[in-house]
Amino acid sequence: MDNTQKGKITSGSHLSYWLETTSPIAYSALEKDLKTDVVIVGGGISGVTTAYCLLKSGKKVVLIEDGNIGSGETGRTTAHCVTALDDRYYEIERVFGEKKAALIASSHKAAIDFIEQTSLKENIDCEFERVSGYLFLHPTDKHDSLSKELKAAQKAGLNIEEIELMPGVTDKIPCLKFHGQAQFHPMKYLKGMCEAILKMGGEIYTNTHAAKIDETGVETESGFKVVADHVVVATNSPVNNKYVMHLKQYPYRTYVIGAKVKKGSVPKALWWDTGDYSVNTEIPPYHYVRLASLNDTHDLLICGGEDHPTGIAPEKKINEEDRYSLLEYWAKKLFPIEEVVYQWSGQVLEPMDSMAFIGKNPADKKNIYIATGDSGNGITHGTIAGTLLTDLINGKENELKNIYDPSRFKIFSAGKTFFKELAGGMLAYYKNKSDESKPVEIGKILVGEGKIIEVDKEKFAAHRDESGVLHILGAECTHLGCIIKWNKDEKSWDCPCHGSRFTHEGKVLNGPANTDLEYYSKDRVIKDRRKQQRSNPATKKKRSAENQDEE
Ligand SMILES: Cc1cc2nc3c(=O)[nH]c(=O)nc-3n(C[C@H](O)[C@H](O)[C@H](O)COP(=O)(O)OP(=O)(O)OC[C@H]3O[C@@H](n4cnc5c(N)ncnc54)[C@H](O)[C@@H]3O)c2cc1C
Ligand code: FES
Repeated sequence: MDNTQKGKITSGSHLSYWLETTSPIAYSALEKDLKTDVVIVGGGISGVTTAYCLLKSGKKVVLIEDGNIGSGETGRTTAHCVTALDDRYYEIERVFGEKKAALIASSHKAAIDFIEQTSLKENIDCEFERVSGYLFLHPTDKHDSLSKELKAAQKAGLNIEEIELMPGVTDKIPCLKFHGQAQFHPMKYLKGMCEAILKMGGEIYTNTHAAKIDETGVETESGFKVVADHVVVATNSPVNNKYVMHLKQYPYRTYVIGAKVKKGSVPKALWWDTGDYSVNTEIPPYHYVRLASLNDTHDLLICGGEDHPTGIAPEKKINEEDRYSLLEYWAKKLFPIEEVVYQWSGQVLEPMDSMAFIGKNPADKKNIYIATGDSGNGITHGTIAGTLLTDLINGKENELKNIYDPSRFKIFSAGKTFFKELAGGMLAYYKNKSDESKPVEIGKILVGEGKIIEVDKEKFAAHRDESGVLHILGAECTHLGCIIKWNKDEKSWDCPCHGSRFTHEGKVLNGPANTDLEYYSKDRVIKDRRKQQRSNPATKKKRSAENQDEE
């Protein structure tokens, strides 16, 4: 499978357990103009659930997806369905107040119920199971954080208790038990939801890239138009919003391993630690764990974590490809894992105040909506998007409207880390404009490597693939022009500013960028430079790609 094809199946070179255990969910590409009530861009859990709910409410819906259904983060998730959110309830209460914290808790509870009831109603065999969730103390954290969480989560109306011994873990670690959590197989769920959408008369087109999005609808890359009364952009990172939303959220890469455990040795449950405060006191990186069925003798322990801001893993001292062994080391200390048989990574968006942004796109026409800022709880947030956006489009009151409103700006609630990451992104932007980075010789780029090269002061991104072929791209991200970085693990070019990602052939994998990088043949780089030099004789021919490359 070449990487162009991979981009249609998943947004990285590793396949997740979910993608490996389902056939691709693909439909025909859009090849005609259409008119509808609502056009939805993006076939992850947010877009698919929104399509389903709108159809149920009587709207006509067209959904377009530029890869296959689930080729974004929904195909790379770990699919914990929780009210035990990634961010602590005592923090949520501080930022939103007691009443809204309770509404937030009940909105996630309703999302879990929605997935359960819909999979029953639509007969979707997606391995949905109710399980308990266990939040346990990381050695660097203080017991006080669990006590505060117990109190705040109970106040928010959750069924939660402190317990002595967690199932599955032999060590005695202080822990909170959250009742009524759940897990499922996200790709099987999406498949069933798509079938239900088609049955209700909805239309789904895959391999269809939305190139232009405005209040009239969507124009695809191939030039077809979907005219619609309402537009929903459910592309994870909104590709129709260039600035505002990307100052309110920050992208992180997160890593997952799937390791064999003997059947019956670990019970079905969800686990999280409270995070490593020695790494970061504000957003301590934490681990998340669940079980899935593998075969007759073994289950798969799926364990995630080792997050870092996108595009700057080496700056954080550990390269992307080295993070899986850290996960394995951590998991081995607590669970009886055997061989690691899966590894993949994905991207989450951390909003400044922990909650997703679902509603009208700020500073835009009033019929354009977005769902973004998953905060690591995108399965429930994406499900909330389905019901909330349906109410907003139908002009129905919904008490969650203000909580999830993308226009909210809780600047004082954002922690130091958020501003640091944001500033880091901006710095990357300015640095790339002024930086005289060390030139790299093309001939010295090894198989599997990607480097930024400079030809007459212009930067290019060069990668040599497994068969030795060199791929040269424009190095400036098509969102706002930051210089991209090579991610050896997922074989992608990642942007450190706002998380856009591209295949080694320059195809866009993650927004906010919505256009591909320019692909240059080696000859074209040389020809373009020569043309430039001819038109500017004063330019010193410092270094041409020709004499850089030894081939
Ligand atoms: C490793 C990992 C673990 C996670 N674990 C959990 C968990 O346990 N629980 C939880 O609740 N959340 C979890 N999350 C978060 C959650 O999985 C995601 O937030 C959620 O799946 C995102 O869904 P989405 O529909 O918003 O976006 P996506 O699933 O990314 O869908 C967006 C779609 O839009 C398409 N698209 C983009 N641009 C265009 C365009 N121009 N035209 C057409 N289509 C376009 C993309 O191809 C993509 O398929 C995890 C995430 C990761 C990466
Ligand atoms: S993602 Fe914004 S500049 Fe690259």
